[in-house]
Amino acid sequence: MKFKSRDRSSHPPYILPPYKSSLTRGPKTEPIIVPQSLTELTGPAYDESIVGELDHDLTRNGQTNGEPIGERLIITGRILDENGDAAANTLVEIWQANAAGRYVHTNDQHDAPLDPNFLGAGRALTDDEGWYKFTTIRPGAYPWGNHYNAWRPTHIHFSLLGPNIMTRLITQMYFEGDPLIPFDPIFAGSPAGAKDRLVAKFSLELTEPGFALAYRFDIVLRGPEATPFEA
Ligand SMILES: [Fe+2]
Repeated sequence: MKFKSRDRSSHPPYILPPYKSSLTRGPKTEPIIVPQSLTELTGPAYDESIVGELDHDLTRNGQTNGEPIGERLIITGRILDENGDAAANTLVEIWQANAAGRYVHTNDQHDAPLDPNFLGAGRALTDDEGWYKFTTIRPGAYPWGNHYNAWRPTHIHFSLLGPNIMTRLITQMYFEGDPLIPFDPIFAGSPAGAKDRLVAKFSLELTEPGFALAYRFDIVLRGPEATPFEA
């Protein structure tokens, strides 16, 4: 199976001056296309054996003495190709800040509490219809050093892995109605017609009554409706 190259019209540029770290990280010359060989076109392929029983549930997979603090949420959606067909057996990995806006990472020294019951990472495999589903808590906004009084909107990082390692895609999901979205240079860096595809929509239908509210976030891998991905 050959893979189509990415149409960059739906994606942010490699270097985006308002997003300061992209100035040093982004390539300054055109990327070199590496021809696909057998190594890239075969394996690893994923099945249910790759995910553990609690991997999809961030309210349970990091517990030490109870549930994490925060508003419980269901995050779910479908992974689709450019024809609208389901991308089954896609490994969806997420990571996020806790309810106070802090990551479990040594580089995160934001003066906000860690939660001993929240790891902030999970993974799930899409089913035959392309659905994935996570249970988590609503992440907090957090300040960052990009510019004066810069705050990231609440967001969840997504990584997708398809049938082989060359198919990894990374993006960020935002929450409908977040007042910080218009001020975020990372969100603003995606093309005008595509950036709203990064915003998860509240879904009363997918809410689990008495348990958790739900947001739906579909991801389109290729084509004119593609979800913006990070370089
Ligand atoms: Fe983040």
